[in-house]
Amino acid sequence: MTTEIVQALIWTGKNLDVLDQRQLPEIRHYDTYSDASGVAEAIKSMRVRGAPAIGIAAAYGVVLSVQRHFESKNYYDSVFADIEILAQSRPTAVNLFWALDKMRAVLNEKNDDVLAAVTNCAIKIHLDDKAANKRMGEFGADLLLGIKGVMTHCNTGSLATGGYGTALGVIRSAVARNKQLNVFAGETRPWLQGARLTAWELSQDGIPTTLIADSAAAWLMKSGAIDWIIVGADRIAANGDTANKIGTYSLAVLAKQHGVKFMVVAPTSTIDWSLENGDNIEIECREPCELLPACYDTANSLVSGWNPVFDVTPAALISAIVTENGVILNPAEQENGIRSLQK
Ligand code: MRU
Repeated sequence: MTTEIVQALIWTGKNLDVLDQRQLPEIRHYDTYSDASGVAEAIKSMRVRGAPAIGIAAAYGVVLSVQRHFESKNYYDSVFADIEILAQSRPTAVNLFWALDKMRAVLNEKNDDVLAAVTNCAIKIHLDDKAANKRMGEFGADLLLGIKGVMTHCNTGSLATGGYGTALGVIRSAVARNKQLNVFAGETRPWLQGARLTAWELSQDGIPTTLIADSAAAWLMKSGAIDWIIVGADRIAANGDTANKIGTYSLAVLAKQHGVKFMVVAPTSTIDWSLENGDNIEIECREPCELLPACYDTANSLVSGWNPVFDVTPAALISAIVTENGVILNPAEQENGIRSLQK
């Protein structure tokens, strides 16, 4: 069984190649970017998506900016302007801002070879994420011994990360230990990250998957077929409240009703230590046209659309938060939330 089926981002040493996830699974096409504003557009348009992958792409975007400007007099101002453009690309995934902060810190060191310094930092962010995924995979799989089924939501695999995946990494590791584990994936409307990306990634990896309509989740839980729901995260507050793909909150509520456990898997770069709880997490609302049938997407239509693409699951509905630094069980019952993960 292969574990690294696809790479969302390829750093060539000069350019960033981005797999256009909008065209998957039918078409496997990479676009080549040589400047930061191109990378910002690739993030905004969701050619690359998934919180850790967004952060990694932005880091390489800063490298492209330095590459383009470092020989000019005011290169510092130009690069910081590009960082602002990258920061505007999507609001919810904190990995974006975490990665840009790291790149800013390297720039502020004023190294003699600034290009080498920022390049090394971006590559390290990429490789560290992949290594964190592998650790989370094993930690998460430890919680799944002897179970029969899991369900996941959205896409949290190699496409969404530096490689291997967060929630999907746990599923990969769990299936490696237990070939009988049944894996269900929700289609994840309206963008179909589950139907188009997760089902494809798992099938490329030789892991059988059953795709369900999002609206079938309650009935699936009622049937007794799944023991755990396993999801990723875009931003986790210090008390464990978790922003993730729209529909995650409904799954957590349903899981409680049906006695199904609920696992969030994310690297610590997804934790926003500045937020005590999830109340102030900015939730991205995307264009209604991603949701509306084309016939309603007209100037004088009486049908409009509301398209929030994330929601916040309260810590009280979460059974485990798995990171590369360890696992917190029942975060709402911990006096200090998830602060013990901070290193
Ligand atoms: O809008 P997307 O596709 O970027 O949303 C992705 C998710 O919500 C993922 O669950 C999250 O980013 C974790 S990816 C490891």
